[in-house]
Amino acid sequence: MSQRLADPPPLNVSDLTADPLVQFERWLQDAHQTGAPVDTPMTLATIGGGGLPSARIVLYKGLYQGGLTFYTNYESRKGAELERNPRAALVFWLEALARQIRVEGNVEKLPAAVSQRYFSSRPRNSQLSAYISRQSRVVDTRAELQARMEEATERFTGKPVPCPADWGGYRVVPAMFEFWQGRPGRLHDRLVYRRKADAWTIERLEP
Ligand SMILES: Cc1cc2nc3c(=O)[nH]c(=O)nc-3n(C[C@H](O)[C@H](O)[C@H](O)COP(=O)(O)O)c2cc1C
Repeated sequence: MSQRLADPPPLNVSDLTADPLVQFERWLQDAHQTGAPVDTPMTLATIGGGGLPSARIVLYKGLYQGGLTFYTNYESRKGAELERNPRAALVFWLEALARQIRVEGNVEKLPAAVSQRYFSSRPRNSQLSAYISRQSRVVDTRAELQARMEEATERFTGKPVPCPADWGGYRVVPAMFEFWQGRPGRLHDRLVYRRKADAWTIERLEP
């Protein structure tokens, strides 16, 4: 468990890199140095029918061509929402450093070959549960899932588990990044990057 900094240092524009992706990776690295796990959880918000927001936690899985990636079931609720409206917001909370990172942008599926490569690197049980789970559908009992798991375990004994066609990654291509540094007395620092054409602007927001 990581320890929280009692008095975090201030955050000024002069502390930031011109490229927010570099800044983002720096902050994640800082968090890992405090003992935060390598698999960083992030809240992913999508937009459902009627503009209704929905949010859940997924694991951040690194950058791919300038986008923040995660893996999931393409037929899940989030998958269906992204199919209709491919925009999302992400939120990271780096507790030990009292830092929050917010990201907004358009979402694209990763190439199937990239998803397949990642799928084959996962532990076998995770592969099998991704294979049998129709994520976000109603299921009557846990026993039904367990029976499907046993059936798949037997079927693929001694063979690789294939990456399901409805499973894979997405990348969120950022148009906005906010770096939030918690500060004493709630006078927090908030610095926002926005993409304007090919360049990034940086502004300070009130806390
Ligand atoms: C710490 C944590 C990490 C998670 N990581 C993932 C993930 O990487 N991919 C995923 O599909 N679901 C992940 N989940 C489960 C999701 O929060 C969610 O229950 C699931 O994706 C179904 O969401 P949906 O019905 O909105 O599509 C994670 C949950 C937690 C608590």
